[in-house]
Amino acid sequence: MKITVIGAGHVGETVAQRIASKHLANEVVLVDVVEGMPQGKALDMWESAPIEGFDTRLIGTNGYDETANSDIVVITAGVPRKPGMSRDDLLNTNFEIVKKVTEQAVAKSPNSILIVVSNPLDVMAYVAYKVSGFPAERVMGMAGILDTARFRSFIAMELNVSVRDIQAMVLGGHGDSMVPLPDYTTIAGIPLSHFLPKERIDALIERTRKGGGEIVSLLKTGSAYYAPGSAVAEMVEAIVKDSKRILPCSAWLTGQYGIKDTFAGVPVKLGARGIEEILEIPLSDADLQALRTSAEHVKANIQKLNL
Ligand code: NAI
Ligand code: 2OP
Repeated sequence: MKITVIGAGHVGETVAQRIASKHLANEVVLVDVVEGMPQGKALDMWESAPIEGFDTRLIGTNGYDETANSDIVVITAGVPRKPGMSRDDLLNTNFEIVKKVTEQAVAKSPNSILIVVSNPLDVMAYVAYKVSGFPAERVMGMAGILDTARFRSFIAMELNVSVRDIQAMVLGGHGDSMVPLPDYTTIAGIPLSHFLPKERIDALIERTRKGGGEIVSLLKTGSAYYAPGSAVAEMVEAIVKDSKRILPCSAWLTGQYGIKDTFAGVPVKLGARGIEEILEIPLSDADLQALRTSAEHVKANIQKLNL
């Protein structure tokens, strides 16, 4: 297994580290435009291998030759938001970056699976899909696992229970219109509504929707990367191990949930072939409408692109 991570900033370096420490690849190639930086980070991480006990070779580069024949390419290149910015404010800058890095990456790794992270997430997944010309099952965006992890962590804090026992699902575009699904949220199989009144559930949903912004306003200089890095590693692991995990990922929709011609977060089966199935689960009328509205928001941004 060879995995390329494009963008060796906060998210990219965290992804590389998680992949190495979980022994998910023989080789990780970190690519960035800043001279010396990916090389330095890769070498530093590799020097931790004797202590951490992993065998994943880490290579840093400013070019693409070293990325040739990667099985998975993770795209984190771009700019993060600053306080007061929405993810949509990154549209034009990151469009140019994601377009360019996708072209360069797929020229060297034509059979890879692309996992897009750069924001605005669902629109950038579309950019990678269009530019790569890859089949839809080999292009996906990471967001739902992160948003769901935030929801799960807030529930764990509220109830003082282990996060491991909390199952949840957040769908829709990665933005304020995302759709947490309390109907599909359980603690050890027991519905969330058994533990919390509606107003507390609504408050946790609201905190989840604003979870990315909460970190941005605390950090002030950028956005989250530890939980995003873990979320990407979970997708990588499902693909590498062909484990058929059911996870919320941003996928190209062709009529599922009455939505088409856009990316949006939906439950998918993730395995060696990428998105092996998009699951259509029954939703309440309100949740279905919220999912469609969220997808429409993504589509409107896609239509702003000259692609
Ligand atoms: P960062 O600023 O720490 O790193 C971005 C890196 O991309 C920088 O090192 C920069 O030099 C590099 N870069 C820029 N242009 C490039 C190019 N043409 N080729 C190669 N590298 C290039 O930002 P961070 O925190 O790592 O975030 C990266 C992106 O991921 C942002 O757009 C952010 O909004 C997004 N993000 C998305 C999440 C999600 O849930 N989908 C979660 C967290 C971040
Ligand atoms: C987040 O939700 C920045 O989109 C990223 O943290």
